[in-house]
Amino acid sequence: MTRKLFVTTALPYANAAFHIGHMMEYIQADIWVRFQRMQNDMDENGSGQPRVVHFVGADDTHGTPIMIAAEKEGVTPQEFVAKIAAGRAQYLDGFHIAFDNWYSTDSPENVDLSQGIYRRLRDAGLIYTKTVDRFYDTAKGMFLADRNIKGECPVCHAKDQYGDNCEVCGAAYQPTELINPYSVFTGSTPILKPSEQYFFKLSDPRCFQFLKEWLNTPGRLQPEMVNKVSEWLGENGEKLADWDISRDAPYFGIPIPDAPGKFFYVWLDAPVGYLASLKNYFEKKGLDYEAFLKDPSAEQVHFIGKDIVSFHLLFWPAMLNFSGHPIIDKLKVNVHGHLTVNNEKMSKSRGTGISPLRYLDLNMNPEWLRYYLAFKLNSKVEDLDFTGEDFVARVNSDLIGKYVNIASRCAGFIAKKFDGKLAATLSDNAKEWMARALNGEVNGTPGERQASIAANFEAREFGKALREIMEIADVANRYVDENKPWILAKDDTRIAELHDVCTTALILFRQLTILLSPVLPHVAARVQAFLGDAGFTWADTTGAAVYETMLGRTIGAYSHLMQRVDAKMVEDLFDKPAVAAPAAAPAAAATAAPAEAGEAPAAGVATPASAAPAAADAIEELAPEISIDDFTKIDLRVAKIVNCEHVDGSNKLLRLTLDVGEGRYRNVFSGIKSAYQPEQLIGKLTVMVANLAPRKMKFGVSEGMVLCASAKDEKANPGLYVLEPVSGAQPGMRIR
Ligand code: MSP
Ligand code: ZN
Repeated sequence: MTRKLFVTTALPYANAAFHIGHMMEYIQADIWVRFQRMQNDMDENGSGQPRVVHFVGADDTHGTPIMIAAEKEGVTPQEFVAKIAAGRAQYLDGFHIAFDNWYSTDSPENVDLSQGIYRRLRDAGLIYTKTVDRFYDTAKGMFLADRNIKGECPVCHAKDQYGDNCEVCGAAYQPTELINPYSVFTGSTPILKPSEQYFFKLSDPRCFQFLKEWLNTPGRLQPEMVNKVSEWLGENGEKLADWDISRDAPYFGIPIPDAPGKFFYVWLDAPVGYLASLKNYFEKKGLDYEAFLKDPSAEQVHFIGKDIVSFHLLFWPAMLNFSGHPIIDKLKVNVHGHLTVNNEKMSKSRGTGISPLRYLDLNMNPEWLRYYLAFKLNSKVEDLDFTGEDFVARVNSDLIGKYVNIASRCAGFIAKKFDGKLAATLSDNAKEWMARALNGEVNGTPGERQASIAANFEAREFGKALREIMEIADVANRYVDENKPWILAKDDTRIAELHDVCTTALILFRQLTILLSPVLPHVAARVQAFLGDAGFTWADTTGAAVYETMLGRTIGAYSHLMQRVDAKMVEDLFDKPAVAAPAAAPAAAATAAPAEAGEAPAAGVATPASAAPAAADAIEELAPEISIDDFTKIDLRVAKIVNCEHVDGSNKLLRLTLDVGEGRYRNVFSGIKSAYQPEQLIGKLTVMVANLAPRKMKFGVSEGMVLCASAKDEKANPGLYVLEPVSGAQPGMRIR
């Protein structure tokens, strides 16, 4: 029976470009898909049928963050999302990720499917409404999502924690439990306002019954996930809580049928997006979507990261099951850990370590990254780390030193000495070496090793598969080393031996290429062209297809397949930290001795006390004299920077949340992004102009100004220093 696979990855939020962690998920899924596409399944008559694979993705477009981001840019959410979507192809194509379709959750298919699922859940008695108090920002006129509210953690009393959980102590709570909550948009104290909400009844005994059975179906989930979700269920489902699936207008989302002003919470319609993308793809291809979902040989295989497990292993299966979607019986979810870079977690404010586009811009080969990540991937929910040195070493040793090396040492002789023609027969010595390489050193049965590699690809044990492939490469290299074609080539009497050795080496090289082709699709395509193969399937790794088809074949000219990684490239790859805070802060601009105009001062180097007086033109002339009354008009206060973050869409501003001792926080935008990373400032005291008229900016209202020292010509003397009072000062103290 031909397996029909519907393969999906998590749908990325359409509020940002891809980072390297996203690429890891897509590369993992793409390798698995390419491996599946090389398989043949047997039909009833015992003849091979290519496996059918539909690999689809989409942008996850709905929800508050995207709505707010669009508002800040002054565009509609649809326009905002379209811009992000237009940027996807350069990443996907760039890393050879071959989705059949890339779609959007903001699509007519998704509206229909989501509303249909909801109606059926309602008919099944699994939806109810309840009036609950929710936080409302009166200044902005909208209900606040948990993440739009910050305040003091009710457990550990850490300041400025999100409304759903504390990043300091890890406690989870309701936003209403926060102490001194404030709206992240306006800084104002939100009020509680009653609102009718729609709930999915996950606590219904039917859900527990179903989930328990679903979860324990062998082969569906990784063992660690079975354990985790079992804990969430509790012994008898007592731990399952109902799920609030509604949000109030204004909200960028899908309207709830028969509920004016209410929208589905983004996590309800997001996973429906898998089906929406498949449906859209089938419509374009003239395939039958309904028939596929009912087909007993259809399976969905899904790849996600460990952070979104509860949505995919509780709500989503329950929703699909009780709305009559049979595909749920054949859903397998593969959860991966997260990619870290130099053992650091990626974060928005710190950047993502490596930019996928910079990688491509530096002309780094995407297949290096595919190989490196594949080598580190297994079937467990484990984090994996990208380290520059490790990357260089792994790629250069395996791909260049072991794999490409075989062809580059032998292909030239076939062209030069044999007119591009491979030998028509092989010696016994060659056959022995070939068996040793392909079947394993000790009594390997033909085909066994290839089956083991296949089983490892199938089980997503990519690292294990690649280690086995590299063992074949090791034997192939030993064969070339011991038989020394470069010596044979110098002796006309040994020309037949040369032919034998180079032919055998290229046969092994072809085998390695086939086995590596899920990971290195472009290299594989070039090798096909070079060797004159029409295409590679897994069947080419066993039986007569291994070498008989190669004997006597005329091959094309070999051109170098892959460069070594240059360690310099990897250095350039890492994000440069934004201008580092000086180790010893120079005195304020008025007395500092900045470098000569045009010469950037070295960051972190304090000006020696004996430095020559500053060049006159670097110091700004004094402003006209004022009276003390003029000065007292300006109310300067000590302010505590309780939070600081990047402003999406601005390359100049940071958003500061300031405590000026008023019992509320102020929101201030400051053009200091070039000089500071947000976390350098959080917790510090500074000085602000507290009685400046509020100013409406593109990104929101700025309620004051923080003071900075800088040189007269900021371009010639970059460097911007936020003022900080000597310790002991308290927020709210006046500066006079
Ligand atoms: N929009 C939701 C998913 C909805 S699915 C119906 C979402 N988007 S996301 O953009 O934040 O993440 C998309 C995927 O990337 C998730 O599977 C997530 O786990 C994965 N990754 C995010 N950071 C990652 C790493 N550092 N490493 C590997 N995968 C990472 O969640
Ligand atoms: Zn806490």
